Amino acid sequence: MNLSKRAKNITPSPTLALDAKTKELQASGVDIVSFGVGEPDFDTPLHIQVAGIDAIRGGHTRYTAGPGTLELRNAIIGKYKAECSLTYAPNQVIVSNGAKHSLYNAFLAICDDGDEVVVPAPYWVSYPDMVKLAGGVPVIMDTTTTDFKVTPAALESLITPRTKALILNSPSNPSGAVYTEKELRAIADVIVKHDIILVSDDIYEALIYDGTKYICVASFGDDIYKRTIVVNGVSKSYAMTGWRIGYALGPREVIKAMSDIQSHTTSCPSSISQKASVAALKGDHGPVRAMVEQFKARCEYMSARLQAMPGIECPKPRGAFYCFPKVSSYYGKSVDGLEINNSVDFSTAMLEKAHIALVAGSAFGSDDYVRLSYATSMEKIKEGLDRMEKLLLQMK
Ligand SMILES: Cc1ncc(COP(=O)(O)O)c(C=O)c1O
Repeated sequence: MNLSKRAKNITPSPTLALDAKTKELQASGVDIVSFGVGEPDFDTPLHIQVAGIDAIRGGHTRYTAGPGTLELRNAIIGKYKAECSLTYAPNQVIVSNGAKHSLYNAFLAICDDGDEVVVPAPYWVSYPDMVKLAGGVPVIMDTTTTDFKVTPAALESLITPRTKALILNSPSNPSGAVYTEKELRAIADVIVKHDIILVSDDIYEALIYDGTKYICVASFGDDIYKRTIVVNGVSKSYAMTGWRIGYALGPREVIKAMSDIQSHTTSCPSSISQKASVAALKGDHGPVRAMVEQFKARCEYMSARLQAMPGIECPKPRGAFYCFPKVSSYYGKSVDGLEINNSVDFSTAMLEKAHIALVAGSAFGSDDYVRLSYATSMEKIKEGLDRMEKLLLQMK
């Protein structure tokens, strides 16, 4: 069959082979400590589960409005009013099947063929391919020498007449970096100056560990408000990855375009999950606070242990649930006949010789690093890091 150029242009996941190997080892009974997961290891809080069950029992089992129920859009509006003093009307909000779907809708709505979207690396794996699927061109910006953050100067240096947007992700997957208000304001100034769009992926906004609260870039004034598409969702904050609810807020015209696209592709998000998401946004946040406390303790433990390992650099992440250590000082070495020349080799050695699964940095566009998720128990974290430390000492 002759596939489309679009399909052929998709980058196959660079970690597929590693994932397959992990599954193979697990199937043969090997005890793997997995640091690969991208979702909270907690259950969805009980009151949210109950709201989902009540939704089914109460007959909320039909199509809803394309951009989501008014009830959920109003709950989202209420959150942004209360937390960020931002005002949005219901026609400025769209609910989608996960934040990933909102992001894809956004790129489809803003990109013409050949439009450039600046993607800071390390990036979340899906950004470049989403941009390509929408006909755009991802322009990768290396941020590894600037604390994994976009600087105004670096952004300006990449802006061309074809630049359509910048995608920003704070807290970041994979680096855990969190922008300060001052840094966000400086980036917003460049967005406004060059009249481009900011796609702000705030999906990890509830998972910040240094006591600072969520700052939404759209709240800095009208100029940036009308150029920003804010993307968020319930997946990470409320341990609801399987419910598939994400959302976006932005100017009316872009939300309308996204809703039109969504209406022809997936109709609407799940009616049941939308009811559960209302309970999440409006209900008791105690379980979220408890989850954040645990993530914070794991973050401190994991980053301190990694930082103390010989040849590893791991500044403490400030948010999300990942550590992103630099491991390239091991490139050129080998262990038990396995040569290590890049992040895939490093991860392969860790999997095969230490039975721990981590994600090669090349998947995120930064080959000198690997990603470890601490969305797993403290006990597993300790065990996995012990194994890692032991293997590092054998690398010569
Ligand atoms: C940075 C980032 N954005 C968006 C998403 C997608 O979230 P959702 O599960 O709501 O589609 C993820 C999920 O891993 C993510 O890491």
